[in-house]
Amino acid sequence: QVRPTELKFLKHKKILITAGGTKAYLDPVRYISNRSSGKMGYAFATVAAQNGADVTLISAASHLATPENVKVISVDTVAEMQQAVESNFEQTELLIMAAAVSDYEPVKFSTHKLKKDAKTANLTLELRETPDILKGLKARKKDQFVVGFAAETDDLLANAATKLQEKGADMIIANDVSKSDIGFDVNENAVTVLQKDGDNVTMPKASKVQIARQIFKVIEKHLK
Ligand code: CTP
Ligand code: CA
Repeated sequence: QVRPTELKFLKHKKILITAGGTKAYLDPVRYISNRSSGKMGYAFATVAAQNGADVTLISAASHLATPENVKVISVDTVAEMQQAVESNFEQTELLIMAAAVSDYEPVKFSTHKLKKDAKTANLTLELRETPDILKGLKARKKDQFVVGFAAETDDLLANAATKLQEKGADMIIANDVSKSDIGFDVNENAVTVLQKDGDNVTMPKASKVQIARQIFKVIEKHLK
């Protein structure tokens, strides 16, 4: 099998990719997370490394095999992912935020396992918003090209367009996560790439590796 060689611009590019769903811990044995598998982020990392990029993958999906020639930083929580992203951002040329970052985390973390309460059958959790890692990079952004995702079940393109405006990203990948054959936790995806000039590129269902290649092709036009 001949490897596609068309993504020449990736050679020696310093690329930072986040992948997987972060965890928000309640106690030492329990957490809240989401259905992200990390496969989309790993597909970007695999394709980039195959084309000679210098890839750092900040992964909240440690169950996946490390792609060849990729430096993996394993993280678990939003705070760990934020720290890893921020300490690598300055020397990065291209950031792809494919991770499904927890939006909320428990206000209280119990260092001991929470026990069932005999007096009530209900449990109410108090959650607080986490920092928005992507939005937080706005102030630090210099020449980095920044790609974010928009995971939506409704009003895909409208919500993604709002994220393009508000997140300070150069590009947003609109990702329908309402279906069982694309998006979260499966090997295929279908996306629409939103660019600042209003040019949308729709990519029909294909393997996540194929989608990653097509997205890099769009990114190439901005990066050369
Ligand atoms: N993101 C982030 N930090 C967060 C939440 C999200 O950096 N605390 C990033 C994701 O990695 C993604 C983009 O922001 O690239 C959009 O994430 P998404 O979950 O689609 O949107 P949110 O802004 O979190 O809004 P909502 O979940 O309410 O739709
Ligand atoms: Ca979110």
